[in-house]
Amino acid sequence: MPDDATFWETFSGEMYGGSRIPRIPDIIGALWQTCGLQVGSKVADVCCGRGYSSVELALRGADVWAVDFSKEFIAKLDHASKALGLGIVTREGNAEEIQPEGSVCATMILWNSLGYNGPKADLKILANARASTHAGGSLVVELATLEELSKEHHKVTERSIGESHTFRRIRNLDTQTGILSANWEIFGENGAPIRSGHFSQTVYPKAEIVRMMSAAGWSYVTDSDRVPLPCEPTGILFIGVAESDSSGESCTKCRGVIP
Ligand SMILES: C[S@@+](CC[C@H](N)C(=O)[O-])C[C@H]1O[C@@H](n2cnc3c(N)ncnc32)[C@H](O)[C@@H]1O
Repeated sequence: MPDDATFWETFSGEMYGGSRIPRIPDIIGALWQTCGLQVGSKVADVCCGRGYSSVELALRGADVWAVDFSKEFIAKLDHASKALGLGIVTREGNAEEIQPEGSVCATMILWNSLGYNGPKADLKILANARASTHAGGSLVVELATLEELSKEHHKVTERSIGESHTFRRIRNLDTQTGILSANWEIFGENGAPIRSGHFSQTVYPKAEIVRMMSAAGWSYVTDSDRVPLPCEPTGILFIGVAESDSSGESCTKCRGVIP
């Protein structure tokens, strides 16, 4: 298991997803329209985490494939999918190496899931997404940008988690390189540290995200700075399309990106 998975599993609990969950139906509802999805559309949820978006997509009738590093998250998603009878196909592993079999109508990489292994790895994930999304299908990438995070390059976040624990994260962003590094600690009731860790992430300027999409074979269509789409307050949703090929064949399970 890569270190990243340990980080995400530790960072999860009350912290991870708490304020995100109520926003998921709105975010997925808007993306459903934007990507022209229908009942039966095939959607890949790449770096799915606990799979909140996978579940929401499947509840709306999509045929969902999901991948994440974390064994724990995939097990929880499998459990939810089984309990709700959603039939989500899951894979535990690295999105640089694993992609869905067959083609999907849309690939979603939501909520800051790129940047953990550097630009080369991110390009590979975006290229895998292009290879597994049919012509006319769409890409959604939700990322915080360097422009946005530079507004607060040193940030301390402290929150109560569970009944008596406190989570503290100290984040520093090098605005020149885009490297964000964060140290986090969890304290018990008496203030004694229980667990701690570190992670770093590359944060890209907006233009670089569009450039990487293009380098991976996607055509940029729009983003949530330009059209009203709900997402994280610090994030931007980038929408791309897999340009049609000469075959002219169109998918009957989706209508493609609706500009
Ligand atoms: C902030 S969470 C977002 C989860 C999810 N996309 C969501 O919207 O709830 C980031 C997730 O990306 C996963 N991740 C990061 N890089 C990955 C990779 N190369 N392959 C698979 N999973 C990855 C982590 O394990 C973590 O669960």
